Amino acid sequence: MAEKFLEKTYGCETPDATRAHYDRWAATYDAEIAENGYATPARCAGALARQLNDKSAPILDFGCGTGLSGVALAAQGFTCIDGIDPAAGMLAEAEKRGLYRKLIHIDPGSDLPGAPGSYAAIAAIGVIGVGAAPPEVMDQIAAALAPGGLLVFSFNDHALEDSDCAAKRDALLANGTMRKLEESYGDHLPGIGLNSSVYVFEKL
Ligand SMILES: C[S@@+](CC[C@H](N)C(=O)[O-])C[C@H]1O[C@@H](n2cnc3c(N)ncnc32)[C@H](O)[C@@H]1O
Repeated sequence: MAEKFLEKTYGCETPDATRAHYDRWAATYDAEIAENGYATPARCAGALARQLNDKSAPILDFGCGTGLSGVALAAQGFTCIDGIDPAAGMLAEAEKRGLYRKLIHIDPGSDLPGAPGSYAAIAAIGVIGVGAAPPEVMDQIAAALAPGGLLVFSFNDHALEDSDCAAKRDALLANGTMRKLEESYGDHLPGIGLNSSVYVFEKL
């Protein structure tokens, strides 16, 4: 039987441990996640499609993993998607899908590719919070968007309960960096009883 990784995700405490975790999980990630009914990518992609009419606009899939988020974006008609991720094993799986314009290996916390404003939207789907990227990446993402640029992201129940994640989300709104266009709460991984909130923010 294949080793299971999902529950171990929420115990990763450092960037190195997180990267090693996803590298070990890469080959079986899609199957284990599908078994648990991973619903957030389709919810995020649907939310972005409601807010961004130009489906040929460049989108950055931040923390693209094996590309399930890219698949959901492509299913909504988006045609120009770049992916970045610190786990080389996950990126190798994403490469096999043949749907990304570019896939880029990044160090956690490093600058995002391209000049500010290169992307009409940045998607961080299933990425921010306990077991993945820290909430500070939201500052980097906001800085990489031009005014009018969109951020679609999800917080699962663990991230919603994390005061640092909630504080970063709320600060971006309160300090006038971004405004909220959409928020909805629903299924994340119903197989383990986990929900998520999906948000679309616009850079001001
Ligand atoms: C749960 S997976 C989600 C992958 C994909 N977006 C999806 O929906 O299937 C989380 C991803 O975030 C990546 N990640 C972890 N820390 C990160 C960081 N600091 N910056 C960007 N990505 C990170 C992991 O390598 C992993 O591929």
